Amino acid sequence: MPKSTGIKNFNIAVFISGTGSNFINLIEHSLKKDSKYKIKLVISNNLNAKGLKYAKKYKIKKKIINYKDIINSEKNILNELDKNNIQIVCLAGFMKILTANFIKKFKGKIINIHPSLLPKYKGLNTHQRVLDNNENYSGCTVHYVNSKLDAGKIILQKKVKIFKNDTSEKLSKRILKHEHLLYPIALKKVISSL
Ligand code: GRF
Repeated sequence: MPKSTGIKNFNIAVFISGTGSNFINLIEHSLKKDSKYKIKLVISNNLNAKGLKYAKKYKIKKKIINYKDIINSEKNILNELDKNNIQIVCLAGFMKILTANFIKKFKGKIINIHPSLLPKYKGLNTHQRVLDNNENYSGCTVHYVNSKLDAGKIILQKKVKIFKNDTSEKLSKRILKHEHLLYPIALKKVISSL
């Protein structure tokens, strides 16, 4: 594992399933002068993930995994990570759950962004559940991935105020803007800890 020096020496893989706004945001940050990482690979379980267009635009290698068989799929992913000398995996809207075996092989090197103030509101449909419970705040969290869903050690978190007229859509959009600020900072923190 290379130490973090002034050069771009960390190879990152981003796993996506959909829009990819966090993916493009990480790409843009990786292109900054002082960035210590390069987005080398994108993995998607969804051939039609909109975010894959950014791979084409920025000439990032992409791999589609069909996930018909999880054991083989993860084997293929690990193979790609190995081939591309990937040191850190960033999950960004990846809708598949990684097995404990996969996580063990990449221990402490997989991070995820979740749109809530973990440990509250793990899983899906976060914003609606937050609103249904009349919470005053929600937010987003970047955390290490362990074998339990959205339960790994928290790296960074941002609290976001909920407004009276919020809908799930409005809240999701507002929180997404904070995700885009938070994820690159959290990734930087992870890199400097390695
Ligand atoms: C984000 O809200 C992220 O927190 C969650 O899935 C969404 C992905 O959005 N895990 P995008 O594909 O990065 O735009």
